[in-house]
Amino acid sequence: MKTHKIAVIPGDGIGKEVMPEGLRVLEAAARRFGIELDCTHFDWACAGYYLRHGQMMPSDWFETLKAYDAIYFGAVGWPDVVPDHISLWGSLLKFRRDFDQYVNLRPVRLMRGVPCPLAGKKQDDIDFYVVRENTEGEYSNVGGKMFEGTERELVLQESVFTRRGVDRILKFAFDLAQSRPKRHLTAATKSNGIAISMPYWDERLALMARQYLEVTWDKYHIDILAARFVLSPERFDVVVASNLFGDILSDLGPACAGTIGIAPSANLNPDRIFPSMFEPVHGSAPDIAGRNIANPTAMIWSGAMMLDFLGNGASRYRAAHDAIINAIETILSEGPRTPDMGGNADTSQVGTAIAAAL
Ligand code: NAD
Ligand code: IPM
Ligand code: MN
Repeated sequence: MKTHKIAVIPGDGIGKEVMPEGLRVLEAAARRFGIELDCTHFDWACAGYYLRHGQMMPSDWFETLKAYDAIYFGAVGWPDVVPDHISLWGSLLKFRRDFDQYVNLRPVRLMRGVPCPLAGKKQDDIDFYVVRENTEGEYSNVGGKMFEGTERELVLQESVFTRRGVDRILKFAFDLAQSRPKRHLTAATKSNGIAISMPYWDERLALMARQYLEVTWDKYHIDILAARFVLSPERFDVVVASNLFGDILSDLGPACAGTIGIAPSANLNPDRIFPSMFEPVHGSAPDIAGRNIANPTAMIWSGAMMLDFLGNGASRYRAAHDAIINAIETILSEGPRTPDMGGNADTSQVGTAIAAAL
């Protein structure tokens, strides 16, 4: 039996609190389904490696992590002490970029047992994926400052859209749409205002669509698309978006489906040359950190996505994934619940209950 090597990076704030629950459930699933995991912990966080060394990770981080099958990541960020762009570009965003994790797959689902904040929506009304481009677009390092400190001060930051980068994310999204019953794809654009890169994105979209005749598709400017998420989430099946638009939609979607404390994500290197990374959509939540009240569900669901990816289609792994989702929904329905869901249970009680429901 293959042993999967997992690099565990709890990170900062609630990352450190939800990670033990993620691991607790992974261990329970691994035991039940005969999956072998070998976890190694890395203290690569602001309140960790950074405090000792002045950088988020050792310089040989790439070679170290490359030897792993997957990265299980909590959240990084301690903005009162380390500026966010230093900590995030010093770890998370490096992993995405250097390991070419070009797909950020973020399911948005109204789970059984979760009251919908949108009036009149039923469970089946919210069930789609945000497919976020994860290595280029608006998240670029191209730019700079000039005339700093003078009245002529000028700051420039370019967006980068490569044909390869755009085509591969569109292809992933169309493939996903084709595999789903609704077979519908929606693209986020803003070609009216962002008049070079977004018309290019739309042009590549129209070309790609020609290869997927069974998939229906449409596109909306990001502003009205955000409104439609709230007004008619049932319209969506697979939503593909550039890096920044996908970032925004993947907090908005889960908020429409109850709480961002549930939302998982998979940063995929679909070619499997480098490790993929599995992490909650949410961050380190300094406002609630240290109180053990964070919802561990996003961390746990991300672990389920990791098992599914590691299994690469194997039924045992798929079954482990499904069993975790089922256990999550059982606990969301029956409790215990964390305060973001209206309950008063703590993080460990919810994690323990989900593991027991497995
Ligand atoms: P956040 O996601 O950390 O928090 C936003 C709000 O949601 C907060 O009120 C928080 O209490 C709540 N929340 C988040 N996760 C929750 C959970 N599991 N259970 C209950 N409530 C939850 O976003 P932010 O406040 O913008 O960022 C805080 C820090 O985290 C910053 O340093 C930011 O850069 C970083 N961040 C990191 C990641 C990551 O590592 N993947 C993602 C987003 C933000
Ligand atoms: C996310 C986060 C990150 C992003 C931040 C922390 C850089 O918001 O994973 O959604 O913008 O991608
Ligand atoms: Mn985000």
